[in-house]
Amino acid sequence: MYRIVRKEVMSPVIKLMEIEAPEVAAKARAGQFIILRIDEEGERIPLTIADFDRSRGTITTIFQEVGYTTRRLGALEEGDTLTDFVGPLGQPSEIENYGRVVCVGGGVGVAPIFPIARALKEAGNEVISIIGARTKELLFWEEKMRAVSSELLVATDDGSYGHKGFVTDLLKQVLEERGKIARVWGIGPVVMMRAVAETTRPFNVPTIVSMNPIMVDGTGMCGACRVSVGGETKFACVDGPEFDGHQVDWQLALRRLNMYREEEKRIIEFHEG
Ligand code: FES
Repeated sequence: MYRIVRKEVMSPVIKLMEIEAPEVAAKARAGQFIILRIDEEGERIPLTIADFDRSRGTITTIFQEVGYTTRRLGALEEGDTLTDFVGPLGQPSEIENYGRVVCVGGGVGVAPIFPIARALKEAGNEVISIIGARTKELLFWEEKMRAVSSELLVATDDGSYGHKGFVTDLLKQVLEERGKIARVWGIGPVVMMRAVAETTRPFNVPTIVSMNPIMVDGTGMCGACRVSVGGETKFACVDGPEFDGHQVDWQLALRRLNMYREEEKRIIEFHEG
């Protein structure tokens, strides 16, 4: 059993949970994820790793309550336990000293971008970070991100904090004004990651995105998490979750996402009437 040792309510629909899982924490690296199951009957859900603490033996994850299982998870409290907590899964981010890099996090995507930005900084990169959310209340970890970045830029869609507009407006400015950018990471909703990839494409800057499709087994067997990258079928759980944003078939990714959204609605209706 895996105990929830800390819970923070970041916004009415965004929760942070720090979970005791020493074996996962010992091996976790930036860019990876876990798959958890609340109880025997529960479905498996993948969540990106927002932080890990090897001495405390914990993994921190931040999630948005978007479906039946994340709502159930969000209702758990400190001291409650989870039946399964498997990981770390997926390929870690390729961390090297690239020079000057940009990390873009949108919405809950700020959570997984944090350990990547930190690892890039530790590897000697100059890290410019851009974080954004729909509105100020949904923005979190600004100080944590500032601590691992040489510069932090903030955007909100409604202008309630920082730049009024999208993270990609700020990304474009950085690409135009800051000289050579060696690499960009973008994590957030699919439409945002597509926009990040389209922003960097004319500048020819390698761009990494983290795909978070529906996953079932997390071992490359079921095919639920397939994405098309450079015309090839890849499984996000074993080949990813990070891929070259310029090669991802975004239309297909969006179609598959919407397909499951309908399914999810039916599951919620079934359970909650
Ligand atoms: Fe089954 Fe990736 S989750 S193949």
